[in-house]
Amino acid sequence: MNHLFSLEGKTAAVIGGSGVLGGGMVQALAEAGAKTAIFYSGNSEGAEQRKAEVEKAGGEAMICKADVRSEASMKEAFQHVEENWGGLDILVNAPGVNSITPLMEITEEEWSRIMDINLKGVFFASRIAAELMIRNNTPGSIINISSASSEIPLSKVFTYSISKAGMNNMTKFLAREWAGNNIRVNAILPGFFPAEQNRKILTKERTEAIFNHTPMKRFGETMELAGAVIWLASEKASSFVTGAVIPVDGGFTAMTI
Ligand SMILES: NC(=O)c1ccc[n+]([C@@H]2O[C@H](COP(=O)([O-])OP(=O)(O)OC[C@H]3O[C@@H](n4cnc5c(N)ncnc54)[C@H](O)[C@@H]3O)[C@@H](O)[C@H]2O)c1
Repeated sequence: MNHLFSLEGKTAAVIGGSGVLGGGMVQALAEAGAKTAIFYSGNSEGAEQRKAEVEKAGGEAMICKADVRSEASMKEAFQHVEENWGGLDILVNAPGVNSITPLMEITEEEWSRIMDINLKGVFFASRIAAELMIRNNTPGSIINISSASSEIPLSKVFTYSISKAGMNNMTKFLAREWAGNNIRVNAILPGFFPAEQNRKILTKERTEAIFNHTPMKRFGETMELAGAVIWLASEKASSFVTGAVIPVDGGFTAMTI
């Protein structure tokens, strides 16, 4: 079993690795043995802290500042990983921004910001990573972090939901496109996990509504995503899995009245 899930000798990059869920995924990948690059934008505090935690536990990590909206900055970050570690086996796409602006008040600027980070940036970053994997003849795994809002319209988070619906479609499209290059592309669909981007959204009233619609009646804990990430990252454990969207949501997306 250890052999099936070990990521020893692999290299990974986590875009949004400084965030709550992305940070947990960095930890999971590092614990499974992968050298992990923490891609962050803005201030470096979260990324530095995560790197220190990985190193303290005996793992290897690096931090790379890169805005997912800029193809040039992403190219530079992946190049840095390749120069230092020789290539890339695993990419986790976990950048994300959200907003609860009422539908009739959403501005073009806000729409573009959310779409650019959650969807457009993830596509261009995935393409750079895939190009690197193909050039080095590496069997790769790309894991997109989608959302429970991607399948049926979730109240309040209009633009975000559409960006994540696009991500599900893109996951299947890229899976089909790169299967011949031995690159698998899958998505994890987390339910509700308290984090920075949803801090303002998870009011008492909304929390109650979420719990009422979640058979397991609670939020997820960050490390409850670790199993799905390691499974999808492992070339041996999920060798025939591509184009899948895997819910880790306490049953939220399986629930009706
Ligand atoms: N927390 C949840 O309940 C939940 C549920 C479903 C999906 N998700 C998804 O999980 C992922 C991680 O979110 P989180 O909840 O941990 O939130 P978070 O706010 O803690 O993390 C978001 C991350 O995105 C990064 N980011 C933001 N703008 C960026 C940019 N321009 N370029 C590069 N990186 C950028 C941030 O630096 C941060 O690391 C997101 O894709 C989010 O949509 C979260």
